[in-house]
Parts: sequence; C-alpha cells; structure tokens
Amino acid sequence: MKINKKEIIVTCAFPYSNGSIHIGHLLEHIQADIWVRFNKLFGNKVYFICSDDTHGTAIMLKSIKKKKTPENIIFKTYKKHILDFKKFNIIYDKYYFTHNKENKILINLFFDRLKHNGYIIKKNCKQLYDIKKKIFLPDRFIKGKCPKCYSYNQYGDNCEICGAFYKSTELINPKSVITKLKPIIKKTKHYFLNLILFKKKINNWLNLTIIKNNILNRVSEWFKKGNKFWDISRNNPYFGFKIPKEKKKYFYVWFDALIGYIGTFKILCNYNKKINFDKFWNISSKTKLYHFIGKDIIYFHNFFWPSILEGSNLRKPTKLFIHGHITINKNKISKSKKKKYINFNFEKKNSDFLRYYYASKLSNSIKDIEFNIKNFIKKINNDIINKLINLISRNSSFINNYYYNKLSNILKYSKIYQIFINESKNISKLYINIKFNKIINTIMKLVDLANFYINIRKPWYLFKNKLYNNKLHMICTMGINLFKILITYLKPIMPNLTLKSEFFLNIKLTWSGIKKPLLGCKIKKFEKFLERI
Ligand code: MSP
Ligand code: ZN
Repeated sequence: MKINKKEIIVTCAFPYSNGSIHIGHLLEHIQADIWVRFNKLFGNKVYFICSDDTHGTAIMLKSIKKKKTPENIIFKTYKKHILDFKKFNIIYDKYYFTHNKENKILINLFFDRLKHNGYIIKKNCKQLYDIKKKIFLPDRFIKGKCPKCYSYNQYGDNCEICGAFYKSTELINPKSVITKLKPIIKKTKHYFLNLILFKKKINNWLNLTIIKNNILNRVSEWFKKGNKFWDISRNNPYFGFKIPKEKKKYFYVWFDALIGYIGTFKILCNYNKKINFDKFWNISSKTKLYHFIGKDIIYFHNFFWPSILEGSNLRKPTKLFIHGHITINKNKISKSKKKKYINFNFEKKNSDFLRYYYASKLSNSIKDIEFNIKNFIKKINNDIINKLINLISRNSSFINNYYYNKLSNILKYSKIYQIFINESKNISKLYINIKFNKIINTIMKLVDLANFYINIRKPWYLFKNKLYNNKLHMICTMGINLFKILITYLKPIMPNLTLKSEFFLNIKLTWSGIKKPLLGCKIKKFEKFLERI
C-alpha cells in the first residue's frame, strides 16, 4: 500500500529557562516524542522542535539573586535541559533557546507587520507602580489574591491555581515583591494586539481544531468577557527583546515565545538547507502544525497565537494536543515545590519505564494524572518484566540451546498470528489520536494471549520428555514472532527495549514489516534485557 507522506511540524511548549525539567514537563515531552516516533515509523516526515523560553521577569529575578548575567543562566540551563531530554530518549530535530538574534529579527518583523496591518495599537493604560523604587512593577514583582478563585500569593498576570488570566490592576490586595508596599496605580502607555478583529476567524478555526466542548466554551467565554486587547509590551525593568524606537519598553515574553515556534523552525532550516521554510508557514500551507501543551496555557495557544498568525497572514495550527497535569498526592507539582520531585532518577533504572508508565496513563483527555511511585513499580514489574520479558526469555532459551539459534522455517497455528497483525490498523489509529492508554491495554491483552498460547502448548514438557522435534521448534518460533510484533507496536514508546530487541532478533523493526514473520533466520543469544525494579 502506498501511503501519502505528510509533512509535519510538532512542538512542545517551551520550558522556562529559570528552572529544571521535572516529571511534569516530561509528561508533555514524552507524549509528543511518542507521537513523533510513531509518525516517523509510519513514514511521515516530521520536524520535532522546541526551545527554552528565556525571557521575562522570573529569569531577571534569578539573575539578580545569583549575581550572574541572564545569558549565563540561560546557557547553563539550556545545556542541562538538553541532557535531561536525551536521558529519556526525547529526540528533537532542533532544540534551541529564544534569546537569539534570529528570533529578535523575526519578532520585530511580526511587530511591524501586525502594526502595519492595523492590529497593534499604542494606547494609555494603568499599571501598578512602586513609589519607593520608582518603577512600574512587572507581573512577577507583584503578588496578591487571584480575582477569580481568591487564592493567595498569585502573580500579576495569571493564577497558578485556577489558570485565570487577568490584568495586574485586577489583583486583590496587591503588594510589591521588592518593597512589600502597596503599589499605586499610575498611567503609562503600552502596545496592544486588538483581539476583537480576529474573533470570527478564530472561532471558525477553533471549531475545526478542537473537539472538546468544555474548552471551546471557555474560549468563547474569553471572547465575550475577556480582554479585548492583549498587552504585548512591558516597561523597564524587564529581560527580553527591546521594542524598536522605544527607550524603556520590551516585548512581553509570551509574544516572543509564541513567535519562537517559527524562530526555532527557522534555526532548524539554517542547519538543514533542504527544508523549505515558506512552504510550512504560508497561509495556504498543506503541511501540518501540531502543538503539545498543558491545559494551563490553553489561553495563549487558542487565543493569542492564532491571532498573531491570522494578523500576519500566516497559517494556523492544525491541532492542539492538550494534556492535564501530573499531580503528586493530588497536588499539581507547583513551581515552588517541584525541586523535590526532580530527582527520582528514573533514567538510571531505565528511561523506558517512565515512558511506558506515562503512555499507560495518557489519553486525549485533559484530566490530571496522578503519579504514584508504588503503582509505577508494580506496573513495570507486572507488565514488562513478568509478562513481556518472560515471553521472550522462555522461548528464546530453547532456540538458543537446542536449535543453534535458528528459527524454524514454517509457522503453524497461524490463527494467533493473524490476531496479532490484525491489531496494527487499530493501534496506528490509537497512536494518531494520542490514546496511548488504549494501546497499552491492547498490547497487554496480546501479551497475555501469547503467554497463554505458550502455556497450553507446554514447550518445557516437550523438552523434559526429550521431544526436541519440529513441534517444539515451531512453538518457540511463534513465541518469538509474537514478541517481534509486540515490540514493533511498542517501538515509539520504548526505544531502549526496541534497540535491544532489534539487536537480539537481527532485524530493524518497521511498521510495514509487521506482517512478515521471521522464519529460518538466526537470532542472537538471549541476555536479560531489563531488570526488575
Ligand atoms: N514557557 C511557557 C510556554 C511557552 S510556549 C511558547 C511555559 N513554560 S512552563 O515551563 O511553565 O511549562 C511548559 C509546559 O510544561 C506547559 O505545557 C505546561 O503545561 C507543562 N507542565 C508544567 N508543569 C506540569 C505538570 N505538573 N504536569 C504536566 N505538565 C506540566 O508555560
Ligand atoms: Zn485563581
């Protein structure tokens, strides 16, 4: 069958430069990486990109506290982030950081174009001002009560508890983080993107890209009640790109971070001259654009991002894949608490395990996912070690010891084989629709079936009675072929196990090779693939 190759850009949300990668981020990057690996295995052309989000007040505060330049912190964190992703086999075609020249040029270009097209206006507004320090307070320099859910200690732009997005002047009982004083409200001028102009087009786009009604309703509500103008500039002090012809104004971090999706792709194109940049971004592009994001940043991606693209006459995303949050004891790993949870050292055991565990929990829902370490260990030992590895170890030992590592030339009992290969269509559909939990369920049912097949045919009984005949040979060859299909299905999820299995089976596992059994060929000597945890 000839497949129509798709050309796809896939992104994860850019992690901030002011902190480490934690198991919450990993959920998103593993989810996207599995999806990308499946698409590549299936034959599509995918460019998987991401960057560190380097601007904003948080990084500025950190740089002051650590007495280091922001650039210094950015670069060190960047190196660490890259290593962290690599440990979990999250392989980007390009991973970069937003604080770069290419991006700066691009942001200015967007700003000019949007302004020229009449979508950006400069207007008077009110902002909180610290009279003692004599500065306008950026969002992170203000803390107060969320105007929506009344949680204490929330920053000036959005609430980490309920995800609400508001103006800093709406915060209840605001206090300056620097002086602890109550700020005054003072007039200033800012640049705004006029969102109302995009209302109709964005609504149409939303209907096409999002199926989930609850999200759609939320976005429509923002259109009704939310800010009609999005403030894309920030006053000094700030760390970011300066706005041209302005002395003390910077682009708001979210403005440059979103456009950074395009910037990162541009950087990739600089390395790989074969990619046609324009083909991916022009308004009538036939290529696909997918963003993986958490539910806390829907607002930016369903509202601001398509507006920026629409106003610049560029293509909009094909779809957003939105996930819930990883929670521990039902709490979201908050920015302040997350440090505690980073050092699980999953990768020292085997990073496939976390990938498998997450896959077993991930679906296309935005419900939170509870991380439970006991449950994690149990699942790995039970599914992977007791069932999957057991299947291969017991079958291969006979082939290794009594048949000179050679598989039999024929497969009898092909009914079970048919059942196994028949699942490939269903599984590829589940991959495309990110229903990874259902894939794991299906695969585990197949493993049980394979083990049952072996159990009732009792190869050890044939062996004990010195019946080293064709029958024993064929049973074990079937066992190994069933394992081969299972590993092909698991290939996007468990890259380490795949590599070991490919080495052992002397074959590169491909999606199109699922139907072709391994017969008459040699395998290697089985050595323990994985250790129990
Ligand atoms: N820098 C912005 C994104 C800019 S995109 C142009 C940002 N950074 S973040 O580091 O706070 O979050 C990055 C991604 O990680 C987001 O999609 C967010 O939802 C996700 N997660 C952060 N904590 C998480 C959990 N505890 N669980 C799951 N995902 C989480 O937002
Ligand atoms: Zn809130």
